[in-house]
Amino acid sequence: MTEQERLEEFEARIAQGDKIEPGDWMPDLYRKQLIRLIHQHANSEIMGALPEGTWIPYAPTFKRKLALMAKVQDEVGHAQLLYRAAETLGKSREAMVEELLSGQSKYSNVFNYPCETWADIGIIGWLIDGAAIINQTLMAEGSYGPYARALKRICLEEAFHIKQGYDIIITLMNGTPQQWAMVQDALNRWWWPIIMFFGPHDKASVHTATLQRWGVKPKTNDEQRQEFLRKFVPKIWELGLTLPDPDLHIDEAGEVHFTDPDWAIFYAVINGGGPMGPERLAVRRLSYQEGAWVRRALAGRPVAAVA
Ligand code: COA
Repeated sequence: MTEQERLEEFEARIAQGDKIEPGDWMPDLYRKQLIRLIHQHANSEIMGALPEGTWIPYAPTFKRKLALMAKVQDEVGHAQLLYRAAETLGKSREAMVEELLSGQSKYSNVFNYPCETWADIGIIGWLIDGAAIINQTLMAEGSYGPYARALKRICLEEAFHIKQGYDIIITLMNGTPQQWAMVQDALNRWWWPIIMFFGPHDKASVHTATLQRWGVKPKTNDEQRQEFLRKFVPKIWELGLTLPDPDLHIDEAGEVHFTDPDWAIFYAVINGGGPMGPERLAVRRLSYQEGAWVRRALAGRPVAAVA
């Protein structure tokens, strides 16, 4: 078969809804794009454990602590599933983790911000996991088998995370005026990072066209963002909360119009300039060093040899 015939067969399989599996022929660009995408996604899961993890010792009740610990463990488990899915494409987990730790590879913009109060834990669970589930439910229909299957499982757990976050918000909003104000303040601070979570506008997106051509990304960044806004803006308003965007409104067709965020901030954050970026990477590096003996033990190498 010529390269052209292989490509045509590959694209025909995708068009008829087949999943591409690790041993199948695939264009180099498809492989590279999937490694990039899944690697960044796995990085986001493991870095996403940090802002919430810092609140485990301060959770207001024992039950809240248990639920938060379970959620943080889920996130780390998602990273494990995703690094495994990326490994099926030929890049080792060690190489991916090292690129994360050296700042060479990206992770989600939203995990670069401080978690200032307990209300932040509610907003992250409800709205950031809410955004993630919209993105991941769509990507779970994508063409690469191992990634799609990992996402199906991840989405089931995200559905619990949203409830955990929403329950925190509802409890705080039924509390004192100060607790209500804490929720509003957290929403104000997280709103713009959440709007940016779905990536740049379609006209500025570098990879969407390639990912759509090969059935990896069923909807564009702007379509996903719009889906999130249509679902969550009415719920936010129903609770009596306001959004820090005076121009945000929903038109008769249900489309949400909003102020364009400052994309210069987004690019600075995703390129290592986020308010918590350096600290988060430093924590991750430390935990990687401290976990070296576990990796050695699991690999059957002498634990005492750890530097
Ligand atoms: N945080 C960090 N980087 C982001 C980002 C975000 N929220 N959104 C986009 N970017 C980066 C892209 O990775 C890309 O950088 P690169 O060329 O160095 O890889 C650049 O901005 C341009 O974006 P775009 O061309 O639109 O990338 P994309 O087509 O891959 O779309 C996502 C971006 C996030 C929508 C897509 O990667 C995705 O769906 N990823 C899987 C889910 C995921 O990672 N979720 C995050 C945590 S739950």
